[in-house]
Amino acid sequence: MTAKPLSGKELAASIREDVTARAARLTDAGTPPRLTVVTATKDESSAWYVSSIAKAATKAGITCDVLDCGPDAPADALRETLRKLSADPAVHGIIMQTPLPEGIRLDDVAEAIGTDKDVDGANPSSLGRLAVGRPAFAPATAEAVIELLDHHQIPVPASDVAVVGRSAVVGKPLAHLLLNRHATVTVCHSRTRDLPAVTERADILVAAAGRAGLITADHVRKGAVVIDVGTNVAEDGSLVGDVAPQAAEKAAALTPVPGGVGPVTTALLLRHTVQAAEQQRT
Ligand SMILES: NC(=O)c1ccc[n+]([C@@H]2O[C@H](COP(=O)([O-])OP(=O)(O)OC[C@H]3O[C@@H](n4cnc5c(N)ncnc54)[C@H](OP(=O)(O)O)[C@@H]3O)[C@@H](O)[C@H]2O)c1
Repeated sequence: MTAKPLSGKELAASIREDVTARAARLTDAGTPPRLTVVTATKDESSAWYVSSIAKAATKAGITCDVLDCGPDAPADALRETLRKLSADPAVHGIIMQTPLPEGIRLDDVAEAIGTDKDVDGANPSSLGRLAVGRPAFAPATAEAVIELLDHHQIPVPASDVAVVGRSAVVGKPLAHLLLNRHATVTVCHSRTRDLPAVTERADILVAAAGRAGLITADHVRKGAVVIDVGTNVAEDGSLVGDVAPQAAEKAAALTPVPGGVGPVTTALLLRHTVQAAEQQRT
């Protein structure tokens, strides 16, 4: 069996098309949508990611500002910046880009992002609201997994889903989104005993550990759907996921890296921004 590739490109393009139309309506109505990305790092891959968000935003008619607080910014200064942006009526969406300066946790500073502008679901209150099924912006990557499953018509209700990774920005919010969709969810992490035995039971396996090649054919049930969230830089500089190529022999379907979850994530950040602008107008 060779896995069917579950591309995210067409889905991302259709989300961007919808966003572009909504951004134009907002601009015509006197509320040009505006996103601010706050950075505090010299990390090159983060800079590349931020510039790709800014380009996609501009193309869709969303103004995107990048506010660089520098790699030595203290937590207090970051919180103050995020608080000011949250109070600024001209700003509709705020992203606190990671990595952060040594010793600073995202949830600690992201508490200062107003939940109405928290377009990447970084404020712990957004995660709490998701957990109880109340409206909130989910982290775009977690939501991208659900959107990809829906787009490719993979049924979620009653399916067994294993999520490898329990971070507050991917694994945990995704587990809540899946539960809200009536999946049976197992969340795995670095202390999970016998990972292949757990993941091998899953109809849908989501790899979000950030470990190249962690998921091998042994982890995959024959005919399972595998969503690879991981983005890792290989020795030759290429971008690879968490799923080893041999796993494709057992999976029925597999997202490519790049070109799977990534483009949908970026498109959803833009969708959240226009949604935030629409909600803040009313
Ligand atoms: N495509 C996109 O748009 C997008 C967006 C965001 C993130 N990502 C990628 O997604 C991956 C995860 O990101 P993240 O921010 O969630 O990373 P993270 O904060 O480092 O969390 C990684 C999680 O994986 C678990 N883990 C690590 N090694 C493991 C192992 N050997 N076995 C089982 N579990 C293991 C960790 O367990 P512990 O909790 O026990 O440490 C942790 O829960 C990264 O590759 C990141 O680049 C992609």
